[in-house]
Amino acid sequence: MTEIMEESKLINKQIEKYRPYLHFAPKENWLNDPNGLIYFKGEYHLFFQHNPYDDVWGPMHWGHAVSKDLISWEELDIALYPDELGTIFSGSAVVDWNNTTGFFPDEPGLVAIFTHHRDGDDNNPAEQTQSLAYSTDNGRTWSKYQGNPVLSHETKIDFRDPKVFWNEDTNNWIMTLATGQSISFYSSSNLIDWQFESEFGHNKGSHDGVWECPDLFKFKVQETGDEKWVLFVSIGDNGQSDMGSRTQYFVGSFDGSVFKEEHEDVRWLDFGKDNYAGVSFSDIPKQDGRRIYLGWMSNWRYANEVPTVGWRSQMTLPRELSLRKIEGKHRVIQMPVRELEHYFERTIDIGKINIDQGDNKKYKVNEPYYELFLEIDQNEENQFDIVLHHTPSMKTTIEVDTKCNSITLNRASSGKIDFSEMFLLEQSLKMDDSDILTLQIIVDTSSIEIFINGGTYAMTSLIFPDQTSQSVTLINKQGKLSINDGYISTPSNKNITY
Ligand code: FRU
Repeated sequence: MTEIMEESKLINKQIEKYRPYLHFAPKENWLNDPNGLIYFKGEYHLFFQHNPYDDVWGPMHWGHAVSKDLISWEELDIALYPDELGTIFSGSAVVDWNNTTGFFPDEPGLVAIFTHHRDGDDNNPAEQTQSLAYSTDNGRTWSKYQGNPVLSHETKIDFRDPKVFWNEDTNNWIMTLATGQSISFYSSSNLIDWQFESEFGHNKGSHDGVWECPDLFKFKVQETGDEKWVLFVSIGDNGQSDMGSRTQYFVGSFDGSVFKEEHEDVRWLDFGKDNYAGVSFSDIPKQDGRRIYLGWMSNWRYANEVPTVGWRSQMTLPRELSLRKIEGKHRVIQMPVRELEHYFERTIDIGKINIDQGDNKKYKVNEPYYELFLEIDQNEENQFDIVLHHTPSMKTTIEVDTKCNSITLNRASSGKIDFSEMFLLEQSLKMDDSDILTLQIIVDTSSIEIFINGGTYAMTSLIFPDQTSQSVTLINKQGKLSINDGYISTPSNKNITY
């Protein structure tokens, strides 16, 4: 008896190993892209690509979770199951406030717009079409639209990931769709009949992999008040680049039909390897006014191999987006949503300190998750390491060079790493527009998210140590290191159970 109990305890321990506290992960089995992100009647909904039968990618369903604060999620029943038209690939959700579909004679409800995917065989190529499902009970149950699919293409095989929004400028629905190496825009008055508007992307941006999971939204630029549109485009892994799958963005204009980008350079949303297929929440109330997104915190290069047991993959923290003009360049800024602050309290004050060349300063942090904040004095040039010790033998090193304005994350000793050669490679970014001023680093059980200069740059990385934290050491390798202000925040007692 005790042996059996011991064994099941061990299995449970294995299953729970690496499970995050602050990030959404499925109770069981496989997860990839966030889908149908939406706010409705006091709840945030997170649907997700889900294989409920196995902890590797397989027949896709839409899993479902809800949250009141974007951080603590309750997983609900599966929302969408495969049917005769195929499995359920990525897509979005909207509130049909004005009953444009005719699905909601009584009161507004939710419509999901998603890709039906059918595998090819010897005689037929694979097929991807767009379909609808609707819910009149706050997303708890869904009916598929009888007339599915609502959009198909005769020749395009990669034809997927519809992200739909109501365009207030033109009073119609706009769909952005990934179509191979481009994004296509469609419009509709009722979500059922769709008209092709235009195609964007040939010879623009990076084409390292297939284009996937677009999103298009408008911002007021913080500095100038101008209106600009931002187009997110994720690009799949081509098996060759050292980065695997990642997300780029374009800044430009959209007149309801055509998107025009304003720059030639490729702009990456994140400089870490583990932020993919991110899209934003629909229907955030006007009085809130935020544009919030989250991504899938993994990389197609090794997503199926990461060393969790019984469940696989998690989402990034939800992040508030904004657009700023810095040194003449429009940049997407991202910061963790303010709701996260309730989960932390400042317990270790680093304050104002100087660390001489060759010296170091160590802080004991024995916590399931924590945040490290540093504001660096830019009058000095230096190279220093932030070493996040997970256990006596496992650590992640963040190398900061304030002369070159570069940051490099090295996770080669962070814990379990042998599942992919690419996992070992360093991740780095070089800032071309300003000095490194602030670093906000959020460490959870199996991830590190770094936000630099108030979110002007982000770096998101998975790690698989035996334990989250033991200590943090700041090591000054070269020059004079002056920290103007700093602190470490650890879990507040609110809400969290472990
Ligand atoms: C992106 C993606 C989407 C597709 C889904 C399938 O990660 O490849 O293009 O809809 O995953 O699970």
